[in-house]
Amino acid sequence: MTGFKNTKKCRCTTYNHYSLEHNIVLIGFMGAGKSTVGSATAELLGVRFIETDEKIEKKTGQLISKIFEKYGEEYFRDLESDVIKELRKMPPGTCVVSTGGGAVLRHENISALKEIGKLVLLEVNTEEVLRRLKGKIDRPLLQGNSLMETIESLLEQRKDCYNRADYRVNTEGKKPREIAEEIICLLAKDKKISS
Ligand code: S3P
Repeated sequence: MTGFKNTKKCRCTTYNHYSLEHNIVLIGFMGAGKSTVGSATAELLGVRFIETDEKIEKKTGQLISKIFEKYGEEYFRDLESDVIKELRKMPPGTCVVSTGGGAVLRHENISALKEIGKLVLLEVNTEEVLRRLKGKIDRPLLQGNSLMETIESLLEQRKDCYNRADYRVNTEGKKPREIAEEIICLLAKDKKISS
């Protein structure tokens, strides 16, 4: 993949002196770790952490799984688009946003997310998603049999959308804090964070 920066030589160790110049928007498939990594990144940088799914649940007073069950996916996607549009008001350098795995499916959302901040893709493979989410009932799109096939097919369908990210980080075998540090180093090297 071209257009993404290499992080291997990063030597950042402390973060409290870093000043975030853009917001960070985490995208990626279900189970990629967007929430845990997002919260760790926000904590290290001392900025606010925002989750689009949590905002939708607060706004509607209903769980995401219930929204899907009662009104269907398109209705959920409309709510998701509204929340993303609202987040464009966030001043630069003030937050880390974690999105739902399908937030990048609509082109209008990608444009809005790019207005909010730099898009960082957390990469995860099928086996890892299966390991993390098997048996969990809170992901309406991953219910039923043939989970492996469903994940593979969704990943394939979404590949181009995820490739719209400004940066990508492989999450395999890494702890949330390590990934958070990698994200910070990636942006710092690219002068999206200054010290
Ligand atoms: C979805 C991912 C979920 C949630 C909804 C739809 C998706 O969020 O937004 O169930 O389409 O991939 P997570 O990525 O946090 O699981």
